[in-house]
Amino acid sequence: MKDAIPEMVTAGRRVPMPVGLLTGRRTQLRRIVSWATAAVNRAIDWLPIGRWLHMRIQRALVFTPLELPLAPRSSGLHGLRIAFLSDLHAGSFMNERDLRRIFARVANEKPDLVLFGGDLINTRERELLLLRSGLRELSPPLGMFAVPGNHDLFWGSDIGLWRSFLVEHGVKVLCNEGVRLSWNGTTFWLCGVDDLTEGEPDLRLALSGRADGEPTILLSHHPDYFFEAAASDVDLTLSGHTHGGQIRVNGKAPLHHSKFGYEQGWFVEGDARLYVSRGVGVTFLPIRIDAPPEIPIVTMVAKSEPAKRAHAARMSMSLAGNCDDAD
Ligand SMILES: [Fe+2]
Repeated sequence: MKDAIPEMVTAGRRVPMPVGLLTGRRTQLRRIVSWATAAVNRAIDWLPIGRWLHMRIQRALVFTPLELPLAPRSSGLHGLRIAFLSDLHAGSFMNERDLRRIFARVANEKPDLVLFGGDLINTRERELLLLRSGLRELSPPLGMFAVPGNHDLFWGSDIGLWRSFLVEHGVKVLCNEGVRLSWNGTTFWLCGVDDLTEGEPDLRLALSGRADGEPTILLSHHPDYFFEAAASDVDLTLSGHTHGGQIRVNGKAPLHHSKFGYEQGWFVEGDARLYVSRGVGVTFLPIRIDAPPEIPIVTMVAKSEPAKRAHAARMSMSLAGNCDDAD
């Protein structure tokens, strides 16, 4: 099956494996350190100061409005709205009530599609239960989809329970696979890859089934995967993982997660675009400095639309000017 997929779809580009204190594959020692850190997180969460710090972060949560310009062939997708939730880290200060409140706010935005960019949990599968009531708030018309992040793969590659919980609660998992969705009669390919550091991402599998020239959206927890996606006609890659640095001093984050500097916001290569979300939750400490949590709401916009709107605005200004003149 795998061999039947042409090599050319990835244009031979291979993203290098991230190596570093924070971004490399989790060794047994690092797993123990992370688990101990998570236990400290939970202890801090019991303290009033921990809860206060966490709530302070959650009050700063913003819904970031983004526009994705569409190529003329994809203009039928104009108006499609996607809510992108990444790095919830349920269980790391984030409790069931917090999640229900956040998901209710997402539901209020009335997205057509809800995508989860990985790290739904922090270190324990039971943390999935914290998502249960929140997920009931969401029923977008095109569905909900998720990819795993490194924290979802904390104890190894067997994420059967993680997957079946999400499927049971209406979230389809796109781990090296894709689906064709349709919006107003225009189809697009939505796909996802496994996590770069802890999993086995395979873009060829994720893209197999895509029709020639079909608009493509890729979910990848780690933003460095854009290196491969940009060479494979993927229009939009949505990633998280970095938390925008989580703590930034003088505009710079002391800790780096991306080899290519994909820390937060938009990145463009040719016609391919990457958006790296700062994510919703935190790890290690309930502290974010100059990196507030966010939920991007991506609206697809036919390329001519901004120009049309600008023209309409100019016309109305000109008409207003004419009225003023008449006065
Ligand atoms: Fe992550």
